[in-house]
Amino acid sequence: MTIWRVTGGRRLSGELAVQGSKNAVLPILAASILAPCETLLTGVPDLRDVRITLRILRHLGCTVEREGDQIRIDSRPLSGCEIPHSLMRELRSSVIFLGAILARCGQARLSLPGGCELGPRPVDLHLEALRALGADVTEQGGDIICKGSDLRGARVILPIPSVGATENAMLAACAARGVTVISNAAREPEIVDLQKYLRALGARLSGAGSAEIRVEGFAPAPFVRHRILPDRIAAATLLCACAAAGGDITLTNVFPSHFLTVMDSLSEAGCDIITKSGTVTLRSDGRLIAPRPIVTRPYPGFPTDAQPPLMAACLRARGTTVFTETIFSNRYRHALELRRLGADVSIEGRVAFISGVERLTAAPLTAGDLRGGAAMIVAALAAEGTTEIFDEEHIRRGYDRLEQQLAALGADISCDRASN
Ligand code: UD1
Repeated sequence: MTIWRVTGGRRLSGELAVQGSKNAVLPILAASILAPCETLLTGVPDLRDVRITLRILRHLGCTVEREGDQIRIDSRPLSGCEIPHSLMRELRSSVIFLGAILARCGQARLSLPGGCELGPRPVDLHLEALRALGADVTEQGGDIICKGSDLRGARVILPIPSVGATENAMLAACAARGVTVISNAAREPEIVDLQKYLRALGARLSGAGSAEIRVEGFAPAPFVRHRILPDRIAAATLLCACAAAGGDITLTNVFPSHFLTVMDSLSEAGCDIITKSGTVTLRSDGRLIAPRPIVTRPYPGFPTDAQPPLMAACLRARGTTVFTETIFSNRYRHALELRRLGADVSIEGRVAFISGVERLTAAPLTAGDLRGGAAMIVAALAAEGTTEIFDEEHIRRGYDRLEQQLAALGADISCDRASN
């Protein structure tokens, strides 16, 4: 357990390089086993989810070395095709190993994954996609068993553009004979980064970033070098922090086009935002006005992962901010917790109403999930007094040294590990 202590009221200022993307690196780590090869990844953030994924790679027999933001994986010695529950339960994106192991070994056995509790998070679309490619998929005692040493290219039609199902289909399709077309594919930038990695690995793949992805074959390369995409959600979180606390910050290592919807809402709230290639500067006097209603959607819509930090930034905004969460059914736990700071929050089904209050005051909070925990830090930066956030290591799943980053911008923040 980590206890974060944040004393609000300090303006943020300075320049900061944003970490590499969690949601890009996790599927790429899984993809590194597709063929016997060596991969060198740079720009890898130091996250709990990354460490667990490296443990999975080692469990499968790969050699993994980490130095700073670089990770070298040698997947030639891969010897296993099963991942035990003790590792799977730690993070949801571990399910992407299903497509990767199946492609490499012709069979895979995984237990159902864990991850943030954001409502039911089934994997039916992942399994259907693999079945469409000819895999025989069964479930037994909480395990998913996949067999398919002769996968065939097919049309995979996703009923909703699931990020994870798109990734699993891309990975498995690399091992299929013939052409695979994934329709209604997710269009997130992290899917484009995965395509970039897979192409370097020797896959003939096109269309990522659009709703139709084609996989036409695979001639594995012995060595791949890839730089991980900047994290658009970490960037959005830092912008929300500055919007809430007030200040003037510049973020480097960003692709501003990846979080336009978040910047639009922050501009509507009264922040001054200037983007240049690779940087974004945000100025805020800390007195925001409620932006137009926010509806979370698949990319290029407003990202569900940025909903909690933006909500935290709007707690003191003049007027009422309305959020509609369409991706996950249980993503307002942070909203209820933020009431403890004096926030005026009401929830009706998938809609949250935030009526701006004059002041927030410190209170002990409990982080229930990754982005919700980040939202608590954002809110605490704008609250009077010292807020303690009790966190069972949710925030470190996705943020690399967040306390150091915010402290470098002038925030009064520290964290201690405490035994439970
Ligand atoms: C990924 C991101 C996560 C983000 C989410 C939505 C990673 C590691 N995680 O998660 O941060 O919040 O995209 O942008 O990249 N669904 C099904 N059946 C399935 C799969 C998904 O019904 O088999 C539903 C989910 O319950 C959810 C919706 O589809 O309601 C979208 O989920 P999905 O895009 O798959 O999210 P993840 O890949 O889990």
